[in-house]
Amino acid sequence: MPSSLKDTTTLHNGVKMPWIGLGVFKVNEGSEVINAVMAALKHGYIHIDTAAIYQNEEGVGQAIKESGIPREELFLTSKVWNDDQGYDTTLQAFETSIKKLQVDYLDLYLIHWPVAGKYKDTWRALEKLYNEGKIRAIGVSNFHLHHLKDLLSEADIKPMVNQIEYHPHLTQKEIHDFCKQEGIQLEAWSPLKRGVLLDEPTLIEIGKKYNKTPAQVIIRWDLQNEVVTIPKSIKEHRIIENANVFDFKLTEDEIQQINELNKDERIGTNPEKYDQP
Ligand SMILES: NC(=O)c1ccc[n+]([C@@H]2O[C@H](COP(=O)([O-])OP(=O)(O)OC[C@H]3O[C@@H](n4cnc5c(N)ncnc54)[C@H](OP(=O)(O)O)[C@@H]3O)[C@@H](O)[C@H]2O)c1
Repeated sequence: MPSSLKDTTTLHNGVKMPWIGLGVFKVNEGSEVINAVMAALKHGYIHIDTAAIYQNEEGVGQAIKESGIPREELFLTSKVWNDDQGYDTTLQAFETSIKKLQVDYLDLYLIHWPVAGKYKDTWRALEKLYNEGKIRAIGVSNFHLHHLKDLLSEADIKPMVNQIEYHPHLTQKEIHDFCKQEGIQLEAWSPLKRGVLLDEPTLIEIGKKYNKTPAQVIIRWDLQNEVVTIPKSIKEHRIIENANVFDFKLTEDEIQQINELNKDERIGTNPEKYDQP
């Protein structure tokens, strides 16, 4: 079981990925994202999750640079946006992302959504970049079982990660089981259901026992379920709080109680409808 923000899971290609990172969706470019990333790095985070569409890669890059932390000690993820999918356009989008981030390589590059008719060409571009050593691990995001099976039927390289919406109201057991079986690391986006889950009585009750907040209980539940997690906050005290999860352990019974909160309920877009408003 991980005991610090530096602890990692080993992806199927041997690359080590920290279990907890800072997500920066909806964090404004400029001082907001710079301050959030700087705060996270100051408090021991080494893993940052951004995406081209978040339009804050420049600020993420600037914060990394200003932190003075050697690049190789960090784990940096970005994602290729839907409009850029396809082989050549993905290669170009990658170059744009690393330029904005001011880095030579990414630790993880993901297909953001399974764009129909395009994601296989996008994947070939990711495989090329991986083979050239420009990305240490490649993966997908928002892939359902049928997308994964379809991709696996033709891919030369199996995705190392699938980043999906995952929290106590959406436990995605089928996808989780399949990913485990295939050695694909599951990663949770919107782990706190964007704050909606923080009033959930079961989580409050379990938290009381350990003197932990519902956010901390959820993040601990992610870890004990072997799911990488990237809670987003722009507030330093919450960035600290979300990482303070290594000094307690949920019982099997509590894990089960939290699993049972599942109601297959999303806060974000359904991957089958990524192209609808
Ligand atoms: N691949 C994808 O398609 C996809 C989609 C969505 C998200 N993501 C990634 O996943 C990351 C996390 O998801 P998310 O940003 O949607 O939602 P989230 O992490 O579930 O929740 C973030 C919200 O919770 C608040 N919050 C954070 N920690 C808290 C705490 N300890 N107590 C109370 N409130 C707290 C934040 O507010 P403050 O900032 O004000 O603290 C923010 O409003 C994103 O930032 C992004 O990197 C990926």
